[in-house]
Amino acid sequence: MKPRLIAIDGPVAAGKSSVGFLLAQRLDYLFLDTGTMYRAFTWKAINSGIPLEDENKLSRLAGITKFDFVPNNKRGLSPLIDGHNASAKLTQPEVDENVAIVAKVAGVRRAMVAAQRMIAQQGGIIMAGRDIGTVVLPQAELKIFLTASVEQRALRRYKELSQKGGKINYESIIADLEKRDEADFTRSISPLKPASDAIIIDTEKLPLEQVVDKIYSLATKQ
Ligand code: C5P
Repeated sequence: MKPRLIAIDGPVAAGKSSVGFLLAQRLDYLFLDTGTMYRAFTWKAINSGIPLEDENKLSRLAGITKFDFVPNNKRGLSPLIDGHNASAKLTQPEVDENVAIVAKVAGVRRAMVAAQRMIAQQGGIIMAGRDIGTVVLPQAELKIFLTASVEQRALRRYKELSQKGGKINYESIIADLEKRDEADFTRSISPLKPASDAIIIDTEKLPLEQVVDKIYSLATKQ
């Protein structure tokens, strides 16, 4: 029996999305990258003009925000925020800079987790993030935690961004990853950590296809 739910957690640029999309195609599942929800909400919060250090206002805003999902053509689910597809805004620099600050607010996480659990009810979902195996879907039958050194992750991010064109600086990517790792690993609510029953896969020297093969065989062997 294939697992109904697969959780993939890990730090920034560990390969969660690339792995998740390919796996979803092979298993005929849907893939949700929950980082896109935190990004979409951060974009909304910035545009609402509320100070991002005001946790009460952020929580209230999250409480009245409507989160939905639409399938895209790669078996992924794109988040809709108040009915609006914010996909184009998710990688804006001001979103990158502020998302980890917004993501540590309890009320924001509560709203996200509720929407994520709702979508998971249908099963056949691969969900990626930081707290999927530990908090959002502790019942997931297969939990994966991807790791790689900060240098390796920065190199991957560098290559990905260079392919899209534009001026990128490797040192500043490292600095950004380190800053976000620090925020994600050390926050008091839902810090990034593997669930006790997660399978840890070190992707440092493993090509993407091999990571996908490994998880695919775990998923189909259960
Ligand atoms: O995965 P991605 O880097 O796009 O996520 C952006 C940020 O959203 C992360 O740095 C983290 O602070 C937050 N996040 C989170 N919990 C999740 C997914 C993302 O806190 N499940």
